[in-house]
Amino acid sequence: MQETATLLAPDEAGIARAADLLAAGRLVAFPTETVYGLGADARDDRAVACIYAAKGRPKFNPLIVHVADLATAEEYAVFSDNARALARAFWPGALTLVLPLREGAGLSRLVSAGLPSVALRVPAHPVARALIAAFGGPVAAPSANPSGRISPTTAAHVAEGLSGRVAAIVDGGATPVGVESTIISLEGAGPVLLRPGGVPVEEIARVIGRTPGHPRPLAQPVSPGQLASHYAPRGTVRLEATEARAGEVMLGFGPVDGALNLSPSGDLVEAAANLFAMLHKLDESGAAAICVAPIPHGGLGLAINDRLRRAAAPRD
Ligand code: TXA
Ligand code: MG
Repeated sequence: MQETATLLAPDEAGIARAADLLAAGRLVAFPTETVYGLGADARDDRAVACIYAAKGRPKFNPLIVHVADLATAEEYAVFSDNARALARAFWPGALTLVLPLREGAGLSRLVSAGLPSVALRVPAHPVARALIAAFGGPVAAPSANPSGRISPTTAAHVAEGLSGRVAAIVDGGATPVGVESTIISLEGAGPVLLRPGGVPVEEIARVIGRTPGHPRPLAQPVSPGQLASHYAPRGTVRLEATEARAGEVMLGFGPVDGALNLSPSGDLVEAAANLFAMLHKLDESGAAAICVAPIPHGGLGLAINDRLRRAAAPRD
């Protein structure tokens, strides 16, 4: 990772450079109409792992994927009539839709943190649109702030929080909306408001003919990380294993090798990039018992261990 982020002008040359960096698997912060996003190629596990590392998130919160238009969004998710109506009404704009993921459409599993859904948004900011067009692919981007800090609305905020952890920042001035997008989940039975934001919920209610529900249970807001069962392979999972017992398939890390190894060199970014794909692979191979090598608890190791604990938690 570099010392200081390059500040790019929001002109053709700056956008082209930013797009090249994304294509090379690097992180680029860019303005959207809501807040600045910390962008990476949403198809590249390693680039997405770098987002989590840069933000210092202790958990793999799923990320919003930014695309050019509704047609592109439909490549990655399954749209219901309500979803299409909302997209037509508010895209481009400050609305994010959480929808069933189209498996095999090429998004990194890490983008969805292993969930069977994906959050999609078509931003309206001209710089964001130009960047997505120049890059020609889906851009995963959480707000460009370190975990636990407030979302940045200027390039200077981004530089303060993330300098040294991002290759470049496209400076598009202050973001006009200043609060994050409204997030509506249309995964389940009815629409659910996951986060109020730039598009007022009343306007959403007008389009879908009802007020979106609240995530359940109210006392404990839905954080995707709490949906333990979504992350769990079918087989049992034993953690901190130094060797496989009879009948177990080992998921290795570093020198503790296994059927698959999250990172033979012990690199936590590589391990995060491989985590969901490898768990799925072991699951698909029909492994009845999986054991996982010890993962250090620093840096991305926190998020990796958080997710592994959920995978290993007792099932209902
Ligand atoms: O305005 C915005 O939405 C900005 C700009 C950059 O687009 N982005 C943003 O991202 O605020 P972030 O990561 O800070 O917040 C995204 C939220 C998280 O709370 C995450 O849990 C939720 O979206 N989310 C993403 N994918 C989800 C999914 N598949 N299911 C449920 N929630 C999801
Ligand atoms: Mg955020």
